[in-house]
Amino acid sequence: MKNPFLIGERIYARAIERDDAPIVQAWLNDPDIRQHLRLFRPIDLQSEIDFIDKTRNDPTTIGMLLALQEDDRPIGVMSLRDIDSKNHKAEFGICSGDKTCWGQGLGSEATQLLIDYGFGTLNLHRFYLCVHANNERAVRCYEKLGFQREGVLRHEHYSDGLYWDTIVMSILRDEWDWLKKK
Ligand SMILES: CC(C)(COP(=O)(O)OP(=O)(O)OC[C@H]1O[C@@H](n2cnc3c(N)ncnc32)[C@H](O)[C@@H]1OP(=O)(O)O)[C@@H](O)C(=O)NCCC(=O)NCCS
Repeated sequence: MKNPFLIGERIYARAIERDDAPIVQAWLNDPDIRQHLRLFRPIDLQSEIDFIDKTRNDPTTIGMLLALQEDDRPIGVMSLRDIDSKNHKAEFGICSGDKTCWGQGLGSEATQLLIDYGFGTLNLHRFYLCVHANNERAVRCYEKLGFQREGVLRHEHYSDGLYWDTIVMSILRDEWDWLKKK
């Protein structure tokens, strides 16, 4: 493992380096991925480098790169945004960019790592996210980890000529602790 920060069973999370910008850029421009991420402008390499630099200096955001333990291959990124130290909450985001890795439980493993970090290290109380209702893979991934559906934002985003719903989901620290003890 190269510079691991959070270590799971098959993957680990580490800091995002400027050298990672080309692969992250490719993931975020991939139509199969960006359709779920509210991205609708092409991302050039300099913009991605600037984003990595900006995130590094932003106390309300923490981004991490996900890599496979077996060969250090980068497979995605995940983040906490709007980290709110008064209300102890943050918004979760994930992009498993290597599509060959989908459906193997790696997205769930990564999400668990960041939840443990959020509750155990950052002292968060609430971990929330917004997911497009038609992103069934992501909804399943979050529900199997114990996220609750809080509500539906009707016709909240527009893509492919249609308006789509967005689901707000969250998990609280007590719920997570209880699920882990089960
Ligand atoms: C969402 C994402 C992180 C999930 O990663 P992953 O590694 O595929 O997740 P997992 O394998 O842990 O879980 C996916 C689950 O969805 C299920 N699934 C896959 N396709 C599905 C579908 N069309 N409908 C319902 N469930 C589906 C899988 O079977 C699996 O459930 P299981 O473990 O009960 O079998 C990944 O697909 C991704 O990054 N997608 C692109 C960006 C994105 O959508 N990000 C999230 C924005 S909110």
